[in-house]
Amino acid sequence: MAPIAALRGTRDIPPGESAAWRWLLETHRRVAEAHGYRPIETPIIEATELFERGVGTGTDVVEKEMFTFVDRGGRSVTLRPEGTAGVVRAVLSSSLDQEIRPVRVHYAGPFFRNERPQAGVQRQFTQAGIECIAERSPDLDVEVIEVGWRLFEALELRGVHLQVNSLGDPDDRTRYRAALVAYYEPLAEQLCDDCRRRLSTNPLRLLDCKRDQRFVADAPLIWDYLSGASRDYFTAVQAGLERARIRATVNARLVRGLDYYTDTAFEFWHDTLQGSQNALGGGGRYDGLAEVLEFPATPGIGYALGLERILIAARASGVAPDQEPACDVVVISVDVDAAPDATDWARKLRAAGLRVVTDATDRRLDRKLRSAAKLDPRVAVIIGEDERRAGGAVVRDMRERSQQSVVADQVVATVLHLI
Ligand code: HAM
Repeated sequence: MAPIAALRGTRDIPPGESAAWRWLLETHRRVAEAHGYRPIETPIIEATELFERGVGTGTDVVEKEMFTFVDRGGRSVTLRPEGTAGVVRAVLSSSLDQEIRPVRVHYAGPFFRNERPQAGVQRQFTQAGIECIAERSPDLDVEVIEVGWRLFEALELRGVHLQVNSLGDPDDRTRYRAALVAYYEPLAEQLCDDCRRRLSTNPLRLLDCKRDQRFVADAPLIWDYLSGASRDYFTAVQAGLERARIRATVNARLVRGLDYYTDTAFEFWHDTLQGSQNALGGGGRYDGLAEVLEFPATPGIGYALGLERILIAARASGVAPDQEPACDVVVISVDVDAAPDATDWARKLRAAGLRVVTDATDRRLDRKLRSAAKLDPRVAVIIGEDERRAGGAVVRDMRERSQQSVVADQVVATVLHLI
């Protein structure tokens, strides 16, 4: 029998990748908190209804990609495919919006979509996002986009292209949807199966079908259906972005895959990612979401970034940090008699704040040094018979390959000096 493998579309993060992940998560936390966003965590598993209502039954996510099952109590539950619906539920059900407005929160963690795995597409993937809930103003749309933009700057990731669009208010969209249906209906015979279905369920999605792109150029544009107020709002957002010196491409074909968006919608694209997987992240305003979840009408805007995709782009651009050394110091006993002293030195060095590994095995010193080198420590502390008797240690600089015999009360200071 073959050993048990990880599920398709899921992957392990080995210790060697932890530095890059820590860098992404920590930088996102830092940039979000610099803008006043505070951490929030919501459950990974939610009532299926949350996503059916929030994300929309006509979306690919709800129609084909959710991991949904009936729990032992006969209730339909779903592994969260996205974070916004859960965060809005969490914020409004605990009335956080009654304390401070807007509510600014950030989050990061695993999300699940049953998509076909390929580069940049997994079934379990990691998003980091922010949501700004309970106020509506173009300044907040700019703020949310800016947090994402400043993150890419902090990561020193170049080649990110911001795409923005306005999806208008629900009335604008109803008019636009009718115009799209009128345009596509005579072409129905030539459309792919998915798009024929979308024509009645979610006609906006026809615009980003990869197979039926040839019809998109002549399709009606959302801008021609925006009310004066929606246009003014979008113009104010664009002016704010300009003032923040954030270069944005206005893309009239940008529609997002989730139903809850109104007004501003945006995506961050990157050159190194291909085709439909070129979005490092995206977001937008969702002023109607709270109501479809049966909460009082509450506006909101946010984004989510795909961290696996950012990592692909960061590695391709050479800005992702290398693997970190497994430890700072290895303490090696030359023989078994010195093992207890080696362990004592390790404790003292850890108490001084260092990451320390001991090797008290019964191997030859050269073997121990060779295997210590694989952990890439800056220093090795070697305890031989002489040192054990005299109470000191040999401190070896692993980079310079030089070493010195050090008296007991100087060992910690000497190691700290080298590091
Ligand atoms: P989304 O565009 O569905 O938006 O997902 C955001 C990002 O998550 C994508 O741009 C992509 O980088 C990443 N992503 C999505 N699916 C996968 C996958 N199967 N494998 C790897 N990465 C993936 C949302 O989820 C919204 N909740 C964003 C939002 C927040 N809107 C307002 N607030």
